[in-house]
Amino acid sequence: MNIHIINGPNLNLLGVRQPEIYGHETLGDIEKKMRQRFEPTGVALHFFQSNSEGGIIDALHAARYAHNADAVVINPGAYTHYSIAIRDAISAIQIPVVEVHLSNIHAREPFREGSVVAAVCRGRIEGLGWRGYLLAVEYLRDILEPKS
Ligand code: DQA
Repeated sequence: MNIHIINGPNLNLLGVRQPEIYGHETLGDIEKKMRQRFEPTGVALHFFQSNSEGGIIDALHAARYAHNADAVVINPGAYTHYSIAIRDAISAIQIPVVEVHLSNIHAREPFREGSVVAAVCRGRIEGLGWRGYLLAVEYLRDILEPKS
């Protein structure tokens, strides 16, 4: 099983960026925790971060068409709230995509409440910090696992 984890703008600054909102873990810390948890179970994880919309779109296309990924976990950062191009890329790849947000976007500024990608994602996890990524992969592993 091959799952891609895509993070958008400013998430490279996790750990130093508003830790009271986003937590103290860096993106590297999160990657390490995820690899420790899932790699022994046979799930291959691929991590990608970009501060640009095009970089995220290319990564979505590559996940499906170059790497044959089974699923994607995406935190599009602020693009969540307005990128129709990322929404279209999620629709185009036709594999399960789970939207994750570290913070509870409904408990913050009103402009964060809307997500233009939510409707084309399988589901969304928000407000649970770095553990949201872990729960998203747990879910995907469960639905993708061949059942005997
Ligand atoms: C975020 C929430 C967004 O509103 C914000 O722009 C981010 C991070 C989150 O993970 O809580 O960059 O996606």
